Parts: sequence; structure tokens; C-alpha cells
Amino acid sequence: MSPTSTSTSTPASSDVLVIGGGIIGLVTAWRSAQRGFTTALVDPEPGGGAAQVAAGMLAAVTELHYGEQTLLGLNLASARRYPDFAAELTELTGQDLGYRRCGTLAVALDADDRAHLRELHALQQQSGLESQWLSGRECRRLEPMLAPGVRGGLRVDGDHQIDPRRLAGALVAACERAGVVFHRTWAERLTVVRDRATGVVLADGTEVAAGQVVLAGGSLSGRLAGIPQDVLPPVRPVKGQVLRLTMPRRHGPFLSRTVRAVVRGSHVYLVPRASGELVVGATSEELGWDTTVTAGGVYELLRDAHELVPGITELPLTETRAGLRPGSPDNAPLLGPTGLEGLLLATGHYRNGVLLTPVTGDAMAHVLATGELPEEARPFTPKRFSPATALSEQPA
Ligand code: GLY
Repeated sequence: MSPTSTSTSTPASSDVLVIGGGIIGLVTAWRSAQRGFTTALVDPEPGGGAAQVAAGMLAAVTELHYGEQTLLGLNLASARRYPDFAAELTELTGQDLGYRRCGTLAVALDADDRAHLRELHALQQQSGLESQWLSGRECRRLEPMLAPGVRGGLRVDGDHQIDPRRLAGALVAACERAGVVFHRTWAERLTVVRDRATGVVLADGTEVAAGQVVLAGGSLSGRLAGIPQDVLPPVRPVKGQVLRLTMPRRHGPFLSRTVRAVVRGSHVYLVPRASGELVVGATSEELGWDTTVTAGGVYELLRDAHELVPGITELPLTETRAGLRPGSPDNAPLLGPTGLEGLLLATGHYRNGVLLTPVTGDAMAHVLATGELPEEARPFTPKRFSPATALSEQPA
């Protein structure tokens, strides 16, 4: 039986059923199948979703924020796994993931930006992270295409990149090799019998049963029918518009590493791929399910990117696209068992889905096998948002 066949010819029951075939659902299904669980995955287009838009920065250090030190631990744990994870996936599938250990340069364009970056540098140092302060001249020596007005920057050699489209394609191939059964359709409704999740009903009415169900639906995770209200994941869509340009190949690298900045309060980043693609992102908009690419979004990204690297206006603009980040109330993912027996979550990765892919796969395989999250993933239990937990954590 082909591992990619549809529900009509596949077993109607498996040990594990993953709802959602983005990179988080795929890595969960792959690691689950590697553990010996019969595993199925439901998605009309596995490998699609936010990974088709994301830039793929692996930026645990440059994306550090105040109040997110717990998330930092998980981000760093995942960043440490990336070399082995990428090597394993490439060896297994023969696919190049565009994994580049190129480092990142975060720069400041004015005094306010510089003060902001100095604070980030102090926070990084307090957190034991490696980053180096550079003058504007030193930044331009590293990246000659930077604007003459750059006032200083932080060099972070440990923040790398991967091509999320290639990652998604390789994960689909790895799942197929591991025997994951794909149901290429929508999950219509979770089935719950005697207070236990038992599977899903597919769009064509077929029932698929499973011992454990993992909901990994990205920004759509809160929309599946049949989930009891008190375990519904508090995940919302946060729109990001992203541009793709093509760099010239003639005179050495246009940019050799990721360059980023905060310009008038908005994050802008330029991620140069070995293929010649230059990804410029991203807006951050709370507009529900809207994925329209707007003139304003494209204008703001190009305006801010142009302030950093004026030469980008010469480059062909090859693609504009918008995707939806799965935002959670504390910007951190929801991993592991819910209050409904048999239902687990792997969602809410917000800005860090690509970075957190390796650690999420490992954590979900561990919890599926043992019932317990591994130490590093415990703070991310979905139960932190359940009414009973929230109440017991109220100060007396
Ligand atoms: N992590 C980059 C973004 O969410 O735009």
C-alpha cells in the first residue's frame, strides 16, 4: 500500500494521528513513526502552511525578548540540535535543506535603535549568550552593502538559517519513508467518546481512529470542531507579509549573513540564501484570517530594507506572500497532553516554528511514548492555560 494513498484505501486506525501537515505536524509524525508507532497525518496539502512563507531564521539569540527567558531555554535546546537534525534529514532524503551556518548581524540606524540594541546586548550577556558589539564601520566591513548611516550592530555568529520550503519537502519525504499514512483532506471534527479523544471525522465523512491524537494545526488549531471549550488551544493568527528578491551572482555575495534591524519599531530582516534568493520580512499584523498582500505592507518592508541596504532597490522582486503565525498568549508553544485524555497539542510556536522544529519532534515523540514531557519542554504544557491551573496560580 502506498504511504501517500488517501483515506479510502488506508487503515482507519493508528496509534497516533497528527492533525496538520506543516513542519511541526510533519516532524511530530516522523519522530512518532520512528519510535515504532503506526502514524497517520491529516492535511489537504502536507508541507504547505506558514513554512511556505517563513524566512527560516534560526535566531535564538537575536530574537531574545525581555520576559521570554523560559522560551530561550527551549530555543537554545533546539538550535543545538539543528546540525544533527539537518544532517539526519539530508542523509535520509538526499535533499539539501539550505541550512547555512552563516550568522546574523543586527544593526542600528539611529541613536534610538542603538540604545535598543545595547539593551539587547546586555540581556544577551546576562543570559550567557555570545554576541559581539561592532561599530558602524566594523559592520560595513563585514557587509559592504550596508548603508553608510549604520551606527553600530551586534554580531551573532550562532544564529543561522534554513530554507523552510526545503525543510517541509524533506519532512514529507521522511514521513513517507517512515510509513506515515497521509490523509490528504481536511479534518472536520475531533471525535470524543466518554471523555477521551478517539480520532477525527474527515471532510468526506470517513472516521479515522487513533490511540493518541496530536493537534498541530498552526494558526488553525483553535478552529477544529468537537474540541471541548476548556481544552481549545488559545492560538490566534498573526499575519506576516514577506518578500522574495533575487541577488546578483556576479560580484561576490550581495550579503553573506542575515542582516536585521528594528526600524521605527518594526522588525525587518534580510535573509540571503545560497541559491541567490533574498528573503525580506516581515510585517506583524493582527487581522484575523486575512492573508492579502497589501501595497502598504510591501512598501513598508521595502522602505525599511532600503534604509539598511540601499542596493536592494536594484534587485528583481520575485515573490510577495503573506502567512499566519500561530500566536499564543505568552508567545511560547503549547506542547503535550491536554485536559482531554488522548488529545495532545503541538502548536502556538508563533515566531519560532522553524527554530523549534527539532526539539518539538523529540519532545512530542517522548511524550507519546512515555506520557511525560521531557524536562526542557515541561514549562510549555498546554495546561498552563487551563482555567483550573490559572486559578491555582492566582496570588492569595
Ligand atoms: N521569526 C520571524 C518572524 O516571525 O517574522
